[in-house]
Amino acid sequence: MSDTDTHSDTGGIDHLMLQPHEMWKQLRAQTPVQSVGVAPQTERETFMVLRHDDVERVLRDPDTFSSSIHHEMMGPVMGEAMIGMDGQEHRDHRDLVARAFRASALERWGTELIAPSIHSLLDDIAPLGRADLVHDITHQFPVQVIAGILGVPVHDYEQFQDWADGITGIAVDPERAAGASDALIAYMLPIIEDRRANPGDDLVSDLVTAEIDGKRLTDDRILSFFRLLIPAGAETTFRAMGNCLVALLTHPDQMARVVADRSLIPAVIEETLRWETSVTIISRNTTTETEISGCPIPNNAALLVMTSSANRDESHYERADEWDLDRPPENHLYFGTGRHQCLGMHLARLELRIGLDAVLERLPNLRLDPDAPPPEIEGFAFRSPPSIPVVFDA
Ligand code: HEM
Repeated sequence: MSDTDTHSDTGGIDHLMLQPHEMWKQLRAQTPVQSVGVAPQTERETFMVLRHDDVERVLRDPDTFSSSIHHEMMGPVMGEAMIGMDGQEHRDHRDLVARAFRASALERWGTELIAPSIHSLLDDIAPLGRADLVHDITHQFPVQVIAGILGVPVHDYEQFQDWADGITGIAVDPERAAGASDALIAYMLPIIEDRRANPGDDLVSDLVTAEIDGKRLTDDRILSFFRLLIPAGAETTFRAMGNCLVALLTHPDQMARVVADRSLIPAVIEETLRWETSVTIISRNTTTETEISGCPIPNNAALLVMTSSANRDESHYERADEWDLDRPPENHLYFGTGRHQCLGMHLARLELRIGLDAVLERLPNLRLDPDAPPPEIEGFAFRSPPSIPVVFDA
């Protein structure tokens, strides 16, 4: 597709960066695997992969499609984080940290942390009858949960949000990203040292004491894990929750069904993650010359693996652009797939389920604010609504 096509079809580059679905749809139909040139950040020829089956194939072939590009992009602020590891090194590391996310830990976080966090946020707005659900709820809730999971005072969560924003923004502001990374290390090191001396029943203690076949995590690895975990946990789930709320509020008939039968909330979550995948791109790099659906890809190329496009691939889903609460459940690609599939996906689902349930319970007759512009989900690499103005019965 030429630049001219892009501009005339969708109304300019700024609009495209905010609303890329139509462009991705055209590309899926015309050139579903294509070079987009040499990216300045990685200095590699970069290919976009847009169709469901190609995305799945790439993510399930870690030998041909390596994750090491994450190190190149995020290494300066994340160190050696697991998301950029391959092969045995990744397996060993993942085995050591996965125990911290076991079912019994999730259950405890649900009752001791997730439910109290969302209810305390709702306590502040429930009497008001009017709110911005992004500013007042979703932007604060998952980062408070992550702060709590790391065993740090919940009132420090604003600091965590700032660091998470800083680290994920490395491409636009490397200086701020480096500052956020240093500050996070300085904050977490004494906590690691304390838990090593006095292990308790929390995630940091789990990580400092984890041992498999005599292998343990070094402080550097633990600090890298935190620098991955905080943005991974804070930046993604808040967007997904905003998207779920927009889906419900803009489909009032479906929302009435969910309010009457809250056992439908898991279906809301799965369909919304498919329809508006909050993390739209996964990066990979080739370790050899290869091809994807007939498109030759050289060795050392970078791939933009477009899960958001895959989740709307019309050759895989009927009426793919529609948000349909009754769509049969399926293993969509929003948490990735293969060896690096999101480690926090059960936590994310739990937060979303408890969070949405509490919002629907505590804010009766919840609806869009008729005096404010309707919310819009926007963004290219991350998608979510900047605000959701609502009214409800106080
Ligand atoms: C709706 C919310 C979330 C979405 C859409 C999401 C998405 C993803 C995706 C697509 C990957 C795969 C990256 C790759 O293959 O390179 C991933 C990996 C990861 N996610 Fe999530 N995530 C979410 C929430 C969370 C939460 C709450 C946590 C933890 C607190 C978390 C921690 C991680 C970690 C540690 C990895 C790296 C796994 C590995 O490399 O083996 N994520 N996430």
